[in-house]
Amino acid sequence: MIEKKITTTVYEYDSATELSKEDQNLIERAREITKNSYAPYSHFYVGAALILENGKIITGSNQENAAYPSGLCAERVALFWANSEYPDVPVKAIAIAVKTDKGFLKSPAPPCGSCRQVLLETETRFKTPIKIILAGNEKVQLIENARSLLPINFDEKFLKQ
Ligand code: THU
Repeated sequence: MIEKKITTTVYEYDSATELSKEDQNLIERAREITKNSYAPYSHFYVGAALILENGKIITGSNQENAAYPSGLCAERVALFWANSEYPDVPVKAIAIAVKTDKGFLKSPAPPCGSCRQVLLETETRFKTPIKIILAGNEKVQLIENARSLLPINFDEKFLKQ
């Protein structure tokens, strides 16, 4: 038996202004698109904005449904739309922001397990790290790639069997 340690590095900022202009813009677009969220059940209005390697920005918001599991998170709305429209263009970064009836969340909201899975597969598919920016109003967290949010996965060699 060997013990394997898995670590995740999260860079935490007190203000979005410490980030690059491109990242700040992505956060702004994620905040903006929360207005299109359809979340009458949770009142958790999520916006995601991603940038492709060609500079194109694609946004998404969560879409709920009375049949609960039929709804979809903002991240997957944006990722699937991007992959559907631009199947050959890598996703470089994604920003996520959340609003409730009281305004934007102060702290960052991490993506759910299913979104992490889709982020990871998109990253693997395009062989390009996806920077993940979790934008709280008072704190912003930056994770360098999807792999570090979901570090246990198939070993490549088993996939090739
Ligand atoms: N949600 C997202 O859109 N993204 C996340 O990262 C977390 C959860 C949505 C799903 C559901 O519509 C609502 O937020 C409450 O969970």
